[in-house]
Amino acid sequence: MASSFRVFSVACLCVSAIACVPLGGFEFELEPQGPQGPQPLLRGPDVTRQGWEQILLDTPCNRTARKNLRRYASTAHMAGTAEDLEMAEFTRDKIRSYGLDAVIKPMDALLQFPVSRSLDLLDAAGRVKFKAPLIEDEISEDPTSGTQWRNMSFLAYAASGLATSQVVYANYGRPEDFDVLEQQGINVTGRIVLARYGECFRGLKVMNSQDRGAAAVLIYSDPADDGYTVGKTYPDGPWRPATSVQRGSVQFNSLCAGDPRRAASKLSPEEICGHAEDDLIPSIPAIPLSYHDALPILKDLGGPTAPASFRGTLPVTYRLGPSEGKVRLFVNSTKVVSPIWNVITTIPGSLSAADDQPVVVGNHRDAWVFGAADPNAGSSVMLEVAKSLGALLKAGWRPQRTIILASWSGEEYGLLGSTGWAESEADGVLKRASVYINTDVGVSGTMFKAAASPSVGRSLVRALAKVNDPVTGEPMDKVWTGKLGTLGSGSDYTVFLDHLGIASCDLSFAQNITGFGAYPYGVYHSIYDSYTWIEKEADPLFLYHVTLAKIINLLVFDFADSDQIPINLADTGKALQSYVAAVRDSHHHAAVDFSPLMVAANAYLNAAVAFHGSDASARSSRNDILGTAERSFLDKQGLPRRKWFKHILQAPGFYLGYAAKVFPGIDDALENNDLESARDLIRKAAALIQDAAAKISGALASQSMLETLQ
Ligand SMILES: *[C@@H]1O[C@H](CO)[C@@H](O)[C@H](O)[C@H]1NC(C)=O
Ligand SMILES: *[C@@H]1O[C@H](CO)[C@@H](O)[C@H](O)[C@H]1NC(C)=O
Ligand SMILES: *[C@@H]1O[C@H](CO)[C@@H](O)[C@H](O)[C@H]1NC(C)=O
Ligand SMILES: *[C@@H]1O[C@H](CO)[C@@H](O)[C@H](O)[C@H]1NC(C)=O
Ligand SMILES: *[C@@H]1O[C@H](CO)[C@@H](O)[C@H](O)[C@H]1NC(C)=O
Ligand SMILES: [Zn+2]
Repeated sequence: MASSFRVFSVACLCVSAIACVPLGGFEFELEPQGPQGPQPLLRGPDVTRQGWEQILLDTPCNRTARKNLRRYASTAHMAGTAEDLEMAEFTRDKIRSYGLDAVIKPMDALLQFPVSRSLDLLDAAGRVKFKAPLIEDEISEDPTSGTQWRNMSFLAYAASGLATSQVVYANYGRPEDFDVLEQQGINVTGRIVLARYGECFRGLKVMNSQDRGAAAVLIYSDPADDGYTVGKTYPDGPWRPATSVQRGSVQFNSLCAGDPRRAASKLSPEEICGHAEDDLIPSIPAIPLSYHDALPILKDLGGPTAPASFRGTLPVTYRLGPSEGKVRLFVNSTKVVSPIWNVITTIPGSLSAADDQPVVVGNHRDAWVFGAADPNAGSSVMLEVAKSLGALLKAGWRPQRTIILASWSGEEYGLLGSTGWAESEADGVLKRASVYINTDVGVSGTMFKAAASPSVGRSLVRALAKVNDPVTGEPMDKVWTGKLGTLGSGSDYTVFLDHLGIASCDLSFAQNITGFGAYPYGVYHSIYDSYTWIEKEADPLFLYHVTLAKIINLLVFDFADSDQIPINLADTGKALQSYVAAVRDSHHHAAVDFSPLMVAANAYLNAAVAFHGSDASARSSRNDILGTAERSFLDKQGLPRRKWFKHILQAPGFYLGYAAKVFPGIDDALENNDLESARDLIRKAAALIQDAAAKISGALASQSMLETLQ
């Protein structure tokens, strides 16, 4: 039985393979392994527990998963719109029909809606030689593609305004891409930056451009990254067609998550994030482009030929610019403070409030357009989870720990709903929460993907071993690659893990495309992320929706109803060792001594192995340690330059946004060649980890003392 596994202590840094997905850039290989992983202590006879698990495996159903997804994807439902409220009510009413207690919790947040935009390429005399249509084509095979939103693509939180200037091409818009422009003597100041999607979060492309004085930014989807170079394009295949546009938020997400205005909070963004609203969102206009609309601009670029790493696969010689003619960009969008609607479902646990350690499960509901994959495949799965838990309750079950199911809104703008709710519950129901389980783009293909706090991995594998791949019948733990990604940002787990120190995981089925790591699927944030796309290209029989619901069901059951919380601290210890090795080996600074950090990691692992090796019985104190272990890695002062991010072990890369960096503070300092700060941060991290190890050993010591007395 592969119910335990090993986190390799060998670092495996996957730099370009995984770069721009919500999964992090750093992975573990998981492997079956010997005696170290404890089975959770079971409550009651095994046979009862197996009966409950059987209900959790039998209840999810592809017919209802299909029906509910169809409902969610029947209309565009951006955060804060009447349709978003309608979907919140639909979610609440469905969950109530399963016998659970669901309520809508409105919350004010800063949003932005498009009014109009235009993009013209001018000739030397100032005449329009190309007017970009900025419209996604209606596709006859896809009945919802005629939506008015096909001509309303925009980048949320970009400034409104007019910019007329020459264009320069900045590849993915990362700092190193701008370095290439600078080396080639190409001045970005006052110009319009054309960048392609991929490798880093889109908001940071705008941040990096703005920092270099750009007047505006155009971000386009190159077929090399998620179009015809990866595979057949929609409607002939799952990848991005010529006029398709990736919308999205351009919040500067590596600085802080959540509403940039904190409209619902008594505290200001400065107080919470250490940055004012204006520092968290762009001050320049920006729009997203299809490659259909970007191609004439690329063709107009002069200047040196772009280096190979800058070239996409369009039929054009990629040049760095500046362009021959000027481009005139006009953007008019309105910012409004509006309610958004989280739907919160609570299943009270049987433990006393003092002993309870709630389990939180979440998925966002708001979408850029129809959002069939992002996020409503996950929303449909969550309804199956709610239905399954309702069936268990009807059969007489009651969880030990409180379970909270959350349907978030405002995720697409910048994790608004989850962040607002979690910040307000930090000293409430989340104070003792033991885990956060997320699914976002729940099903966009058939390949299982997981990113998680390492301590959660064992419980996940245990769940996978009991669920079969719906097509091959193989147990999912055998089908899975066993690579546990590191959580970066880009979805709702961010506040739980990075701000509050709650162990987290993110689960999904994505397209099976080894070799192209850039995107999990090809119609992301376009009008074609539709019910028809899911049915044609991702999960025709809705079997993977059902499979994901089963996996989440078992994971929730394990956390909510095992006598001992199924967190494994030894896996955290092994991960710590590999993190230290990774950050040490990715920067070769002989003058920086990592040994205090490695010593601390070793101490943590030893304490954790001893902890799990003893089967002493002081259950509540063991659970206190297990359920709050991740909190030990929070630094109250936060990371340098971004104090909202308090977890010292991982954060979205400062210039990456989605992908995670391990020991992000130390890594940033080394990247900036600030060795003094790096040394300080190493000392600080080593002390935190030593304290965490001492806490684990201390719990063991007081436990054995108790036993001696008994
Ligand atoms: C559900 O899955 C079964 C195969 O297990 C399939 O025959 C059936 O058509 C599916 N139903 C729906 C509504 O997709
Ligand atoms: C864009 O959609 C709006 C709303 O349906 C419509 O009024 C407008 O004419 C459309 N514009 C174009 C260029 O299609
Ligand atoms: C870049 O252009 C700006 C605006 O035209 C100018 O002020 C600046 O001096 C230029 N920088 C360089 C290095 O040429
Ligand atoms: C932007 O749109 C608003 C709302 O329609 C309108 O009142 C305003 O005049 C527009 N601004 C510009 C510069 O066109
Ligand atoms: C992914 O594709 C590879 C190669 O085509 C295939 O061997 C494998 O079974 C696929 N895996 C899944 C989960 O679909
Ligand atoms: Zn999403």
